[in-house]
Amino acid sequence: MSASVTGYDIREIVIPDLDDSQLEPIVAASNRIRAERRPRAVDLSTQEYRIFTTSPGSVRWHYVVSGEHGPAAYLNLRYPDDGTNPSLLQVSIGVLPEHRRKGIATALLGRAVRSARELGRITLAGEMFDTVPAAASFVEAIGARKTLDLHHNVVEIADLDLELLQRWQREGPDRAPGYSVTVVEGMYPDDLLEGMAHLYLVLERDAPMPEGWEPRNWTGGFLESWLGNFLKGAELITAIVIEDRSGAPAGMSQLGRRHSDDTTWFVTTTMVDPDHRGRALGKWVKAASCLRATEIWPGAKWMETGNAFTNEPMLAINHAMGFRHEFTMSEVELGVDDAEAYLASKSG
Ligand SMILES: CC(C)(COP(=O)(O)OP(=O)(O)OC[C@H]1O[C@@H](n2cnc3c(N)ncnc32)[C@H](O)[C@@H]1OP(=O)(O)O)[C@@H](O)C(=O)NCCC(=O)NCCS
Repeated sequence: MSASVTGYDIREIVIPDLDDSQLEPIVAASNRIRAERRPRAVDLSTQEYRIFTTSPGSVRWHYVVSGEHGPAAYLNLRYPDDGTNPSLLQVSIGVLPEHRRKGIATALLGRAVRSARELGRITLAGEMFDTVPAAASFVEAIGARKTLDLHHNVVEIADLDLELLQRWQREGPDRAPGYSVTVVEGMYPDDLLEGMAHLYLVLERDAPMPEGWEPRNWTGGFLESWLGNFLKGAELITAIVIEDRSGAPAGMSQLGRRHSDDTTWFVTTTMVDPDHRGRALGKWVKAASCLRATEIWPGAKWMETGNAFTNEPMLAINHAMGFRHEFTMSEVELGVDDAEAYLASKSG
């Protein structure tokens, strides 16, 4: 099947080259699809869209499908720029509801397959939310398979058990002698950057991931540029466990809040290095980041987090804090050969 649909125009865009008036309709279309996937979503501002879609660490291409009245769909392609995961191409497709079932996503899949062939990548990977039934139908139709399910959990901040959190924080030093916790706002201090990069590597190495995926090569320099970009669009609070003996970070819990959305705190990461587990450090850092947020980010209504279905220790902490399942996000994969077979079946 050719990457075209009658009445629609597919073109590549370079986001930094577009001025705000050119980008705004694209951001509006993207926000509509985002809101369909995520209940309670607050729209990304044009500035945030620029920041998050040009984050360092990936090679990316963006395509927009335009109909008579403006953007109707998008295709985003990316892969890590550090040589890891050489067989994967990450694909994100969104089609506005009034333009669905016309073969637009199929055409965009064709465009993704062409890029994968050019790049020598053999697997297309994407995300699916169970809040969008059409996505499940599409995934089934093209023959993709789910590789990992993640709970998206939420708690109302007013329901947080502050006494429980204060107790976790108070008990921390007794249950973990030889460790301390420091809470950082924004960028990590220079002397912790390499240690923090090691934690990100450990996090990606140990987190449930689809089979065959590998962590990126985190370094202090990359972490600084990646986080620096993120901090243009969001604030961050990071509670870091320090092992007193070595002075090295041994775990962390991080909360974020987008500049244009003060309703929601999101947990980006909570992790304890396996060498330091079993001392209730996870509870201590989790409590420390939340208690700081209650002090400096008043007025928010929700706190949200994502956890793999299999991550029982993290789910136990989150359930104790009152987090409840909101929706499921799944990683899905499709071999490029299988995608081509599907495209051939549609064009026959
Ligand atoms: C999933 C999505 C991208 C599909 O876009 P689309 O342009 O409507 O898809 P296509 O027209 O190319 O559909 C291809 C095939 O998928 C299946 N399909 C797609 N939507 C379907 C639905 N609502 N019900 C049943 N089957 C469906 C059909 O088999 C269809 O072929 P057919 O129309 O010839 O029967 C669109 O619904 C969307 O943008 N959803 C929100 C964003 C999202 O979840 N993206 C992630 C997708 S993994």
